[in-house]
Amino acid sequence: MTTIHINTTTPKGTISRHIYGHFAEHLGQCIYGGLWVGEDSPIPNTQGIRTAALDALRRINIPNLRWPGGCFADEYHWRDGLGPRNQRRRMVNSHWGGVVEDNSFGTHEFMQLCELLDCEPYIAGNVGSGTVQEMQDWVEYLTCDGDSTLARERRANGRQAPWRLKYFGVGNENWGCGGNMTASEYATVYRRYQTYVRNYGENQIYKVACGSNDFRYEWTETLMREAGRHMHGLSLHYYTVTGTWAEKGSATHFVEQDWFTTLQKALRMDEIVRQHGAIMDKYDPEKKVGLIVDEWGTWFDVEPGTNPGFLYQQNTLRDALVAGVTLNIFNQHCDRVHMANLAQTVNVLQALLLTDGEEFLLTPTYHVFDLYKVHQDANRLETMVEGDAAYTHGDAAIPQLSVSASRATDGTVNVTLCNLAPANDVPVTLRLAGGGAAGSVSGRLVTAPTMQSHNTFAEPNQVTASSLTGLTQQEDTIVVTLPAKSVALVSIAG
Ligand code: AHR
Repeated sequence: MTTIHINTTTPKGTISRHIYGHFAEHLGQCIYGGLWVGEDSPIPNTQGIRTAALDALRRINIPNLRWPGGCFADEYHWRDGLGPRNQRRRMVNSHWGGVVEDNSFGTHEFMQLCELLDCEPYIAGNVGSGTVQEMQDWVEYLTCDGDSTLARERRANGRQAPWRLKYFGVGNENWGCGGNMTASEYATVYRRYQTYVRNYGENQIYKVACGSNDFRYEWTETLMREAGRHMHGLSLHYYTVTGTWAEKGSATHFVEQDWFTTLQKALRMDEIVRQHGAIMDKYDPEKKVGLIVDEWGTWFDVEPGTNPGFLYQQNTLRDALVAGVTLNIFNQHCDRVHMANLAQTVNVLQALLLTDGEEFLLTPTYHVFDLYKVHQDANRLETMVEGDAAYTHGDAAIPQLSVSASRATDGTVNVTLCNLAPANDVPVTLRLAGGGAAGSVSGRLVTAPTMQSHNTFAEPNQVTASSLTGLTQQEDTIVVTLPAKSVALVSIAG
């Protein structure tokens, strides 16, 4: 029997709701055909945005949305996306499929989308091919409440009041698609560009410097040493790639070895966050600078027959487990991880939503975000797993369970648990060490008949959330059996 001790007496910081953020790039059908269908579309829309997507994202309390890239950000020129839509400049989206980008979704459309979602915009500025002045002007155009020429231009384009813009990224992957710089080169460029990312009026920008990916620790070291005092956040990208970058593997056709490898690699997020965090601790022991994991998720081969540059992949129960495990890791490291963004919201990589014309579905990953939204802005509670069973495959083993816990403002203790083993249910005892919060208990569950289960437009409810049954409670102890290959939420009222 596995026992999970939950320390309810000494909360360990706040799990920022921004850990539950998302990312929408001008890539494939994330924006065009996904979120943005246009005001004249027969697809139900709200000011051009697909209404079904708005409703779904509001239900999971989307806290922020990163835009316009990704790699696209460092070739995006914001002025191209202003004015009458049919007169906007047409460019080639050279990173993603070589398609023509008509810029019909620009600054006003994005900020409108965030207002409709009631979420914080997180804009990535262009360092790779943009100028300091271009970046400075964008921030002024967005946020200046005075009588400057740029503020007047914004008003002439239909927006009177300045927008609130908190999160601003100074470039993206500048070690690669954002300009192929060395860490020292970028640190110098970052210091210069960020100087001109100004605060206008009441607006206070949280500046995010481009960070590293995976295990590239020297980038973090250099950035913290050479530019740490000029940033509020430092980004980190980590994708779960089952195979190699050349042959990543299918999203839906896989065997248990692939399931195991995928989860083993997803679990490495813990080590990556710890190692980058330890470097940051040397320069910032008070953990003021946030580690901003603004791209994470699974990356598989594209679905057969789709444009390789569009990164369209299906989403199975395996993706749900990757999401559950990763979000538990972020919760556990909420002292350093202040924000994260799953890549990407619609039709790209580990999407929450898939669309085809008017058709629309929620992926297994979406249902995990729905379960986990209870952690947003809650107090993290420490957990200790005793007698943790291992999930063994061949000669290798990983933990069978992943867990995190928090206490909401109404006193409810929420515990999210993943059972990584594809064939073994696991009985678990939750013990609230320190007492408290042993009111009524309820639970929800995401699981499905097979590892490969996924939702299609013909069968959109193969993987959904349902009630977690069989919970028994005695004072501060709850016993539950977690089904094989599942993600669960147990809520204990205060
Ligand atoms: O999310 C897809 C791409 O992955 C992004 O554009 C880039 O930043 C990363 O390499």
